[in-house]
Amino acid sequence: MARILIIGAGGVSQVAVHKCAQASDVFTDICLASRTLSKCDKIAAQLKRPIRTAKVDADNVPQLVKLIKDFRPDVVLNVALPYQDLHIMDACLETGVNYVDTANYEPPDVAHFEYKWQWAYQERFKKKGILALLGSGFDPGVTNVYTAWALKKHFDTIETLDIIDANAGDHGQPFATNFNPEINIREVTAKGRYWEKGKWIETDPLSVKKTMDFPDGIGPKKIYLMFHEELESLTKNFAKKGLKRARFWMTFSDNYLKHLEVLQNVGMTRINPVKYNGQEIIPLQFLKALLPDPASLGPLTKGKTCIGCKIKGTAKDGRKREYYVYNICSHEESYKEVQSQAISYTTGVPAMIGAMLVATGVWKGAGVFNMEDFDPEPFMKKLNKYGLPWTEVFLK
Ligand SMILES: NC(=O)c1ccc[n+]([C@@H]2O[C@H](COP(=O)([O-])OP(=O)(O)OC[C@H]3O[C@@H](n4cnc5c(N)ncnc54)[C@H](OP(=O)(O)O)[C@@H]3O)[C@@H](O)[C@H]2O)c1
Repeated sequence: MARILIIGAGGVSQVAVHKCAQASDVFTDICLASRTLSKCDKIAAQLKRPIRTAKVDADNVPQLVKLIKDFRPDVVLNVALPYQDLHIMDACLETGVNYVDTANYEPPDVAHFEYKWQWAYQERFKKKGILALLGSGFDPGVTNVYTAWALKKHFDTIETLDIIDANAGDHGQPFATNFNPEINIREVTAKGRYWEKGKWIETDPLSVKKTMDFPDGIGPKKIYLMFHEELESLTKNFAKKGLKRARFWMTFSDNYLKHLEVLQNVGMTRINPVKYNGQEIIPLQFLKALLPDPASLGPLTKGKTCIGCKIKGTAKDGRKREYYVYNICSHEESYKEVQSQAISYTTGVPAMIGAMLVATGVWKGAGVFNMEDFDPEPFMKKLNKYGLPWTEVFLK
């Protein structure tokens, strides 16, 4: 019996709201609030049960506080954009309500994300006796849980961790991003970074690549080394457990990279303002307005995603072990169930599960937590139950 306030009404929200509505045994009352009320109402109209909708500017803390006081949720699920994280955390602190999100804070004017801004809330959340669960999507999110699960069940020490995110789907568009184009392009055009023996090693954007053979008929795909936010918390938490190297890889098609290169070369991915016809515009935001809305890709996307962790280390019996745990998600099946493609599905389901574990007190505590701080077992069970089943392979 829990009340949930979901903020943001984009692609991820579409799935999270459907999944919370399906879990009516836990989420008895749902309020969906976002900047554009009509988007909340559109999602609400697809559901089999009534939910409340509201308009809120999540950058306006007093507006958020008023809504929270009025709805009285047990948990606030933030599936707006990373720019809103701190404002929503401030509102949760003021009202004493637990907080869950899927992406770490990013200042709007610098393409840079890290946990320091949200970790800085630790003492205030502790003092207030409430919990903030950071990064409850797939990556970050499930990938952190997979790593914690591997250590709990199969390894004595984890030495290397490779997180690999493959989208083998095809939407048939010349160029489109699978989630918010601004956030996606900022992430992809940033320098790559991986962690080895306690140090961060920087690489030029998308300059390190290799080919990996993916399971379930996906086959060989090129994967590119990138920095991804879960590396920050995982290296901090697992270095003391023997971790020596952690990397993150993602697939990109040659077509996607060709378009991105041209857009970058002509300055369309810049995030600093330029003057145009007497008005200031930010090229990347203008580009977002031109590109297909990720939500519109749902009915067009065919194929699968495969996201997982390859881990090497020492098993509990002292033998060397190589292990791969992953999920396969079908774009078409996701669309059939919740009218969204698999990228939003693989984020929205763990967002709902994280909120559920917090709302029901299965994951509890006071302070700011990353996913690997908690027992992975209940989360792993719920992944199987709510549509993201996982497979384990012992490669050695
Ligand atoms: N961990 C993971 O695996 C993972 C994967 C993918 C995405 N994500 C994260 O998930 C989040 C949602 O992504 P998405 O693809 O769903 O993005 P999206 O489709 O662009 O949706 C974002 C939503 O937030 C709303 N919003 C933006 N600013 C707001 C404000 N000031 N006040 C209230 N609402 C506001 C937008 O409102 P309008 O519709 O009015 O613009 C939109 O409805 C992002 O933080 C993204 O980084 C995480």
